Amino acid sequence: MVSYKELGFVNTREMFRKAMKGGYAIPAYNFNNMEQLQAIIMGCAESNSPVILQVSKGARKYANPTLLRYMAEGAIQMLRNDLKSNIPVALHLDHGDSFELCKAAIEMGFSSVMIDGSHLPYEENIEITRKVVEYAHQYDVTVEGELGVLAGIEEHVSSDKSIYTNPDDVEDFVTRTGVDSLAIAIGTSHGAYKFKVKPGEKPPPLRFDILEEIEKRIPGFPIVLHGSSSVPQEYVELCNKYGGKLEGAVGVPEDQLRRAAKSAVCKINIDTDGRLVVTAKIRQIFYEQPEVFDPRKYLGPAREALKELIIHKNKNVLGSAGQG
Ligand code: G3H
Ligand code: 13P
Ligand code: ZN
Repeated sequence: MVSYKELGFVNTREMFRKAMKGGYAIPAYNFNNMEQLQAIIMGCAESNSPVILQVSKGARKYANPTLLRYMAEGAIQMLRNDLKSNIPVALHLDHGDSFELCKAAIEMGFSSVMIDGSHLPYEENIEITRKVVEYAHQYDVTVEGELGVLAGIEEHVSSDKSIYTNPDDVEDFVTRTGVDSLAIAIGTSHGAYKFKVKPGEKPPPLRFDILEEIEKRIPGFPIVLHGSSSVPQEYVELCNKYGGKLEGAVGVPEDQLRRAAKSAVCKINIDTDGRLVVTAKIRQIFYEQPEVFDPRKYLGPAREALKELIIHKNKNVLGSAGQG
């Protein structure tokens, strides 16, 4: 058992308290490899933003859990020693689907875990979430639960239709489970195809009415938004221009996320946008410089583009820049 505190991570409690008070949201960026992690760390250091580094079950499988943990620890050392940055960093398990996985993450030094029982019947969701909370709180690790189902494909569940969070359930759920934050479904979904809209049409707005009702039932309680990539059209076009096939990819407009960040939404999850930017940049380089075969020559520019995207989001969308 290694304590996250020894590794230099923080849990999300203080981060969320400040975000709630300051009317901004903490960015939660997923990483699977070194370049993504570097871009996140450098972008957040440069914009002086607190950050949540997210690791999914799929990321653990892809990169190896031990390696990811040491990479995250290395990122803290790089921040403090090389970048001279003191930004708070949480290491978070994204979409934990079992008690055992959450326990393994905590034992490895994660400071925060999500137990996603959103696809389970209500009482079973409460039961598994409470079990994780009881274990995690012994080590001062914070826990995110989820109520409502996001459309799209998650690691363990695929759903065509989203089921919005029912505001009548939230008070009962947070009281009986003891969770520290709650992910809700108000119209976002995972991936690059969030809404079916005709070219030139705007996606439907998020259900701010549901969010407001939830805020009334659990005032001051930290809310989390999954599926919050904006799928920037310039990068979709860049991808498609250089041989990609991302027809009809649409995300959540940035002004909607800005509005959410000013409310009780304290954590905004972004993964797809990072994937998109990296892929677009690599496609462009492969096309324009076919002689290149040193991975640093294409992964380097892709990393730079991702860093710029992260700075933009922290400054202009989440409002977390300058809050480190
Ligand atoms: O919510 C899902 C995240 O984007 C993680 O995706 O399971 O493909 O790693 P992944
Ligand atoms: P996106 O697919 O919109 O980036 O959402 C990521 C997410 O919710 C990770 O948990
Ligand atoms: Zn998610």
